Amino acid sequence: MSASAPLVFVMAAGMGTRMKSDVPKVLHRVAGRPLIHWVVTAARAAGAGRVIAILGHKATTVQAALDASFGPAAVEIALQPEQRGTGHAVQCALPQVAAEPDERICVILSGDAPLLASERIAELVAACEASPAGLALLSTRPPHAMPYGRLVREDGRPDGKLLRIVEHADASEDQRRIADTNAGFYAVRLGHLRRDLGKLTADNAKAELYLTDLVAHAAARGGATAIDTPFSEVAGINDRVDLAASEVVARRRINEAWMRAGVTMVDPATVYIDADAGPLGRDVWLAANVTLRGKTSVGDGARIDTGAVLSDVQIADHAYIKPYSVLSDSAIGPRAEIGPFTHCRPGSRIDEDAKLGNFVETKKAHLMAGAKANHLAYLGDASVGAKANIGAGTITCNYDGVGKYQTTIEAGAFIGSDTQLVAPVTVGRDAYVGSGTTVTRDVPRGALALTRVKQVNVEGWADRFREAQSKRKKSGDEH
Ligand code: UD1
Ligand code: MG
Repeated sequence: MSASAPLVFVMAAGMGTRMKSDVPKVLHRVAGRPLIHWVVTAARAAGAGRVIAILGHKATTVQAALDASFGPAAVEIALQPEQRGTGHAVQCALPQVAAEPDERICVILSGDAPLLASERIAELVAACEASPAGLALLSTRPPHAMPYGRLVREDGRPDGKLLRIVEHADASEDQRRIADTNAGFYAVRLGHLRRDLGKLTADNAKAELYLTDLVAHAAARGGATAIDTPFSEVAGINDRVDLAASEVVARRRINEAWMRAGVTMVDPATVYIDADAGPLGRDVWLAANVTLRGKTSVGDGARIDTGAVLSDVQIADHAYIKPYSVLSDSAIGPRAEIGPFTHCRPGSRIDEDAKLGNFVETKKAHLMAGAKANHLAYLGDASVGAKANIGAGTITCNYDGVGKYQTTIEAGAFIGSDTQLVAPVTVGRDAYVGSGTTVTRDVPRGALALTRVKQVNVEGWADRFREAQSKRKKSGDEH
């Protein structure tokens, strides 16, 4: 952060009425990240010095989210208790930068526009530095009618000096036909900002202090510079339709970046990767309908098959997650195979070459190298040693309605099908547990545990039973 790094103000005090939400607008998420998190991240990537968020509506909630994302007080807060317009918002932040020199460049961003790239912020700063008027802004030509401020130029010429911005609510029919609109992002010398903000009046259709009136003041100094920017980069979010549209753009960007980095996506339109996910290694293969949430990472050559949903999961090199598996807060080792239809709940650690098959659920379970649970099992609060084999239908009874208890299965143990392990309990190294056993006591190393009752075969019983039943039915029919 250099001494001349720009100050950044992020305007985020508005209610976001059109979201019709209990959540502050800037905390709605695109690709898993709050809107304001995108804006602050872009500002930092552009070399921002101090970042000051201007908050009002639900300020403490937004501040807590910023602290959680960036560390306590990393983003400074200015309060705008009453929302009296964008000009008023920036006025509320000025006392906080009272000690900064007039030459300092301030970047003013909207907290509800997540798709702005850091390169654009850098361009704004460069344009402001070069502008005698000390003001630059991003303009855009929306593909459909938007209630944006219009850029009014001298003689109506496209290259004419920028005279002012007329807000949609104040614009005449003629002015509303102007294609160039204000995207709502600015860079301005602090000295000009201090002087011109003091001159704002609420003499307009909304009775607000418009930040956009800075442009009229800059006209006297030769005119502000406008940088034409694609609408998709600057689109602000006002309602849930805008939110979904930004999600699509963000997702396409994220997927394209990963594909360019060496990830295969069979059908990228259906792959959902959060902004915070990664890294994804070389030759990762993602089938259709794969979702990677939170801080999920995937190692080289790993495959994630159709319909898998992974949240905060670390997948090591060459692991294979088969279709429709759901994994959360877990770590999967090299070459491990999971699924189809496996559920790894938080705290599952599956080491190299281990296997979990269909309808296996794990929670706080550690399966060591080469261990297997291929079918129908619940392993909770369990440690399973290397190469142990867990038979179909095995259940760790880890909960007695009050406490949770640990099951330890040592290396090489063989747990027969339909076993219940009543925790706390340990099955020793290389031991066998016969099918259908309810294990309530520790099994010594190398032993066989059995709790089955002895089998009885009653010769001819089934034939006699059927005969008696059919006789009874017949006599019933005769009555
Ligand atoms: C603003 C611009 C308009 C531009 C449009 C682009 C003004 C007067 N108009 O209009 O020229 O085309 O953005 O999207 O600036 N905010 C506060 N405090 C307030 C008011 C707003 O912090 O008192 C924040 C909002 O939370 C939001 C941002 O400022 O993040 C923009 O406010 P918004 O009400 O959306 O402005 P627009 O009417 O869209
Ligand atoms: Mg807006």
